[in-house]
Amino acid sequence: MSDKTHLVDEITGHRRMRRNRKADWTRRMVQENRVTVDDLIWPIFIVPGENIVDPIKAMPGVYRLSVDKAVEAVKEAADLGIPAVAPFPDIEMNLRDATGSGILDPNNLINRFTSAVKKSVSNIGVISDVALDPFTSHGHDGILRDGVILNDETVDQVVKAAVLQADAGADIISPSEMMDGRIGAIRRGLDAAGHQDVGIMSYAAKFSSGFYGPYREAINTGGLLKGDKNTYYVSPANGTEALRDAALDVEEGADMLMVKPGLPYLDICWRVKEAFGLPTYAYQVSGEYSQIKAAAMQGWIDEERVMMETLLCFKRAGCDGILTYFAVDVAKKLAKA
Ligand code: PBG
Repeated sequence: MSDKTHLVDEITGHRRMRRNRKADWTRRMVQENRVTVDDLIWPIFIVPGENIVDPIKAMPGVYRLSVDKAVEAVKEAADLGIPAVAPFPDIEMNLRDATGSGILDPNNLINRFTSAVKKSVSNIGVISDVALDPFTSHGHDGILRDGVILNDETVDQVVKAAVLQADAGADIISPSEMMDGRIGAIRRGLDAAGHQDVGIMSYAAKFSSGFYGPYREAINTGGLLKGDKNTYYVSPANGTEALRDAALDVEEGADMLMVKPGLPYLDICWRVKEAFGLPTYAYQVSGEYSQIKAAAMQGWIDEERVMMETLLCFKRAGCDGILTYFAVDVAKKLAKA
């Protein structure tokens, strides 16, 4: 019998959501999503030289590592069970030029990292980004002529670079420059070079975002960039356009899709997963990481709690995994639990 002294409705008052939340064991029984180490992809910054562990100011806890140090770190990540790493190179300024020609050096920093990892670490995948921005003197992802980022010329170069990255041992090529037609072109290029088993994780929906700020400090592209990337990245205002862009990538042969940034774009994650059913990943980008770190360092939020909550939210939004700078911290925490 309902208690007439309370305002809870007599009929609906029988439907009590709190029954399933009443104890730790009921909460575990009804838990719909979980973060596991298999969900983690670790983006890692590489610098030339040896024995270098260089902190990135805007990303406390994240370092630029020389290849030798990076290989040690990747070994640790593999031992923790992290399935893949995604290297981003901080290229020497004197090797950057207007066309990003350094990306065509088979022995460039990203390829040296990949072959070193493949030589000495087993059981971890290398997901190799193939945009030109670390290699250009203007910080754009493509070839710049007369103020315009050239689509088809950039794609030609990206295809060649992708083949070199696969030659170096990259397991998955991950084009992030948002040129049109790149996925199909890369697929044909890889196949022609005998790399049928190398996959493509497309940055299917990459938004023109302010959340990339700290990353640009990490690889020193921020100071170089003139203007913005609005002529090739998707506007944060446009969800349906992002879906059309992803649809083209699926048609052209992407094996996996990525949404970037992550948390402010969970609607896109959900829509992409629902629409295509492909393995779908979110990139929790540098600005998302730094926001959490900064607030935690002020004592305003509980870092570990918020870190785990954000990752769980990606899972709830349909993601199969997350690229996150927290990957190693999370893997360690999960190993302890
Ligand atoms: C560009 C690229 C970006 C990031 C990785 N590759 C964006 C940009 O600089 O425009 C951002 C990653 C991050 O913020 O963590 N190809």
